Amino acid sequence: MKIIITGGAGFIGSHVVRLFVTKYPEYQILNLDALTYAGNLENLRDVESAPNYRLVKGDITDQAFVDELFAREEPDAVIHLAAESHVDRSITDPLAFVKTNVLGTVHLLNAAKNLWKPLGYEGKVFYHVSTDEVYGSLDFGPEMFTEDTSYDPRSPYSASKAASDHFVRAWHHTYHMPIKLSNCSNNYGPNHFPEKLIPLAIHRIQHGEAIPVYGKGENVRDWLFVKDHATAIDAVFHKGTVGETYNIGGVNEWANLELIHLLCDTLDEKTGKEKGTSRQLIKFVTDRAGHDLRYAIDSSKIMNELGWKPSVTFEQGLGLTVDWYLENETWLNNVTSGAYQDYYQKQYAQR
Ligand code: NAD
Ligand code: DAU
Repeated sequence: MKIIITGGAGFIGSHVVRLFVTKYPEYQILNLDALTYAGNLENLRDVESAPNYRLVKGDITDQAFVDELFAREEPDAVIHLAAESHVDRSITDPLAFVKTNVLGTVHLLNAAKNLWKPLGYEGKVFYHVSTDEVYGSLDFGPEMFTEDTSYDPRSPYSASKAASDHFVRAWHHTYHMPIKLSNCSNNYGPNHFPEKLIPLAIHRIQHGEAIPVYGKGENVRDWLFVKDHATAIDAVFHKGTVGETYNIGGVNEWANLELIHLLCDTLDEKTGKEKGTSRQLIKFVTDRAGHDLRYAIDSSKIMNELGWKPSVTFEQGLGLTVDWYLENETWLNNVTSGAYQDYYQKQYAQR
């Protein structure tokens, strides 16, 4: 099987690529990535020489390129993760999100349809990786997002992901495209780009700089270790029913301030600082515009039907994450200085 994984140089994509390249040596894995600011080939150094792995640098917003790639490579499946993924960026530059998340997804759907429809779609699958943010925002309380929750996106990011989900389902109903979808909660773990809360806070703590907490820090997110998201994607890809959607979450809700307290204490302990030292860096800042109050995912469908469950508790996952950042200071420094973007040039100049 030849699988195009889009966005494979990003945070979650790199964990999915690694899992598939190592677990399924019989598969050919093509990583289609534009290497935007969020794409980092250093994430994939350990698998970049594997015989069943290839990088294709390219932009999913370019329909001609995508069509030519599909015609040339004749993939059997797509696992689509490439996206603009940061809510704050979507507030300042919404059009970039429409282009990549909506148009880019439609270009991939078109190319897959053109290649697969004449073959009757036999053995083909288009798997779209999406977010819980499409469901909107919950109040404090017991309610959770299920696969039947109505869509109610409220940021340019979540609106663009909701639109892409609708297009994927439209290709299923209109053109009989064999699709699968999953909507996941907040991921954390190694290789997380330090514009997102957890790696940003780790970086700030390491440098003794202020940790910006939006508003009162009361907003709640449901956190899942990124490697557990990768195993969930593996489960949906191989065992999920065509046409179905699966919610993926950690059953692990944390108010931002409580999470930052735990992170500060974990770092203090691991770096031999007195407990309470890093908490002094917390700084309450102006809230995010339209800040969704709470996300919570009901994962019972994927757990009951596909037998998936998270492998680590939050305390374990956060400990592993902090250890990784402490051991990979060069990765973090290269990302924050922009040096990681030289890697492609150096690595591929002679190829
Ligand atoms: P990321 O921002 O870390 O990585 C995105 C990747 O897509 C990068 O490698 C980037 O270079 C690539 N890319 C961006 N625009 C492209 C384009 N036009 N053409 C080709 N490649 C392009 O994102 P992430 O956090 O790893 O998220 C991956 C997917 O999972 C996204 O679709 C996101 O919506 C979804 N998701 C993320 C989370 C989360 O907590 N991070 C949770 C649920 C779902
Ligand atoms: O729920 C899934 C989504 O989780 C994904 O679809 C997105 O791609 C991913 O970026 C993430 O979105 P969030 O907006 O929840 O993640 P972020 O890390 O940006 O913010 C987490 C929470 O922390 C949120 O309530 C905003 C807050 N925050 C964030 C930053 C960057 C702060 O308080 N301070 C900050 O500096």
